[in-house]
Amino acid sequence: MKLILMGAPGAGKGTHGAAIRERYHLPVISTGDLIRKAMQAETKAGEQAKAFVSAGKLVPDEMVIAMLEERLQAPDCQKGYILDGFPRTIAQAQALEEMGIVIDRVIDLEVEDEVIVQRLAGRLVCRECGATYHIQYSPPTGANTCDHCNHLLSRREDDEPATILERLRIYHEQTEPLRDYYASRGKLYPVKGQDTVEATSKLVLAAVGS
Ligand code: AP5
Ligand code: MG
Repeated sequence: MKLILMGAPGAGKGTHGAAIRERYHLPVISTGDLIRKAMQAETKAGEQAKAFVSAGKLVPDEMVIAMLEERLQAPDCQKGYILDGFPRTIAQAQALEEMGIVIDRVIDLEVEDEVIVQRLAGRLVCRECGATYHIQYSPPTGANTCDHCNHLLSRREDDEPATILERLRIYHEQTEPLRDYYASRGKLYPVKGQDTVEATSKLVLAAVGS
């Protein structure tokens, strides 16, 4: 099974991707995570990506398509995968088709902009294992440490208020048109974000398996 998880920044792609991974044992491939790893490792691509990410802009298509294509060669992708945050432009969606990849479903998480701002302002992430928390909606059990690996939690650098607004603007301009793109192909499964992670995860799992 090959799925796309689409949605605005902070819509819950990472959170609900983890729920699908647990149910279906498929890897979640987040292009955001691939880019952050490249930035941490200070590779050439990582260095080039930094300015775009910190300004809340999209990384150029060629760069992110190359990173994804390489990741999809790994053995764990043989039986399928969940793409988190890719494609984000029509050109990226076309690149997937050109690679001969047939997507089964596109799960589109719909969350209003005001809610997004609250969510990202309260988000905590584990840089070690990638787990995501929220100070109010999904707090860690310990004071500020990851439930899975016990590492210290932190904020993401692009979760500054001005950068959040720019990421949202770019999402509406460049990524939202993909809804029509996939709806016209009969692949779009919209899921309205709920107040709690659990309630939304139920709807997401129903959309994947119905
Ligand atoms: P990326 O890392 O993908 O960031 P994003 O799209 O901005 O999305 P986020 O990871 O911020 O949010 P999310 O939807 O995963 O939400 P989460 O589950 O964490 O990309 C970062 C950057 O990399 C981009 O800005 C761009 O520069 C670049 N990039 C990446 N892919 C690219 C591409 N394809 N092309 C070009 N550039 C690319 O949830 C958010 C918070 O809400 C958490 O605290 C969570 O606990 C909470 N929460 C989640 N669901 C609920 C719920 N139902 N109720 C209450 N709280 C909830
Ligand atoms: Mg994410």
